[in-house]
Amino acid sequence: MTGLLVEWKTKNAKETCKKGEFLGRKIPPGVILALEGDLGSGKTTFIQGVGKGLEVTDLEEVRSPTFTLIQEHLGKFPFCHVDLYRISWDEIKNLGLEEYWKTSLGNSQNQWVIAIEWAQKIKEILNKEQEENLLIIKFETLSFQERKISILGNRKWKKIFKKS
Ligand SMILES: Nc1ncnc2c1ncn2[C@@H]1O[C@H](COP(=O)(O)OP(=O)(O)OP(=O)(O)O)[C@@H](O)[C@H]1O
Ligand SMILES: [Mg+2]
Repeated sequence: MTGLLVEWKTKNAKETCKKGEFLGRKIPPGVILALEGDLGSGKTTFIQGVGKGLEVTDLEEVRSPTFTLIQEHLGKFPFCHVDLYRISWDEIKNLGLEEYWKTSLGNSQNQWVIAIEWAQKIKEILNKEQEENLLIIKFETLSFQERKISILGNRKWKKIFKKS
């Protein structure tokens, strides 16, 4: 059963990054982080924090890719960062994103943490994933520097956020 697991308000980018780091430290591999939110709402900032929490070896490379759609990083677990901003639904379908995680990540898909920016574009695909392996992370811009971050997912994840 999917429900609201936690809701955070952050006052600046550093706080958003810290929240991502918190999640990155707690999250086991095999989970897809589906980030939804408008331009500049803090998705990449949060993912940089997740990378830090996952102890990725090339932290400075965790950023908004200009042309790259998928970036892979090594850390405590392999970490895959997908940014769908520049791509249309038709292109996404042709791209075979599903095949990417079934073949490229293959059987080792459950070894990865996958973070997807603009995940709202691929709801159809994500709906096919096992609900308990999906965390939906919604970003809202409240003011110039304030953001609301809401995480929704299976109730089994609730314990992760106890001390957040
Ligand atoms: N509380 C906050 N959390 C995150 N970013 C903030 C916050 N306050 C201000 N900012 C600024 O907002 C911007 C957020 O950019 P970021 O690239 O993380 O957003 P994004 O959601 O990934 O955008 P895009 O849709 O373009 O990928 C940064 O310039 C950051 O410094
Ligand atoms: Mg971004």
